Amino acid sequence: MTVLPYKEQQAGKKEQVAAMFDSISPKYDLLNHVLSLGIDIYWRKKAIRILKKQKPRLILDIATGTGDFAIEALAAKPEKVIGVDISEGMLSIGREKIKKLKLADKIELRTGDSEKLLFDNNYFDAVIVSFGVRNFENLLKGLTDMNRVLKPGGTCIVLEFSKPSAFPFKQIYNFYFKHILPFVGKAISKDNAAYHYLPESVQAFPDGKDFLNIFEKAGFQSTKCIPLTFGISSIYIGKK
Ligand SMILES: C[S@@+](CC[C@H](N)C(=O)[O-])C[C@H]1O[C@@H](n2cnc3c(N)ncnc32)[C@H](O)[C@@H]1O
Repeated sequence: MTVLPYKEQQAGKKEQVAAMFDSISPKYDLLNHVLSLGIDIYWRKKAIRILKKQKPRLILDIATGTGDFAIEALAAKPEKVIGVDISEGMLSIGREKIKKLKLADKIELRTGDSEKLLFDNNYFDAVIVSFGVRNFENLLKGLTDMNRVLKPGGTCIVLEFSKPSAFPFKQIYNFYFKHILPFVGKAISKDNAAYHYLPESVQAFPDGKDFLNIFEKAGFQSTKCIPLTFGISSIYIGKK
């Protein structure tokens, strides 16, 4: 079953997700760091550390949002990072941030849909995505197009929420995620739906081996999953 942000609306998931991120974009960065107690910053760093060894020259950051993963990707010393996203609101916050950091010569943010990427086959040395794949309307289609634009031998890194399973961490985390996080999220973003959608979409999303099965179906090989922080998030690595 597809999890939608605004259940009472008729629009499809892609349109709803873009509208939801447009709505929360001014508070997105703040909420990310507050709600994760800053751990999201460590997760992105850890994912890029893995990529560093591949020395990618050209990186595509899918569902780039406000650009934090694209900015972190510069630690892998590429010549250029291109970020794409379907939310103009998120992209405009990201562009401002990149301008302020004087990184406009290194990072370019473009409007773009992960399921219909406007790039040639075998174009990027690495394709990365953090907290984006869960929001795709069609996960397999999105991952397959990411595989298409990746060069043979290139690396794909996916960072996404997963579900912790160990007692008592699972129980504490579920309470926080389902009861505290939506309340704080609504108070700061003023969007009631967005921070209910977050735990609901994580619950419904395939993680661990289930995600790797779909990742492989999309064409990725030598796949691996690295759980982070008791399994709250996971890094998935695949090669083309
Ligand atoms: C939770 S944010 C993640 C942003 C950023 N990667 C980060 O780590 O903070 C998810 C982003 O995915 C984008 N998104 C969802 N579906 C997409 C699609 N089909 N193509 C491109 N971007 C998409 C949303 O617009 C949103 O900006």
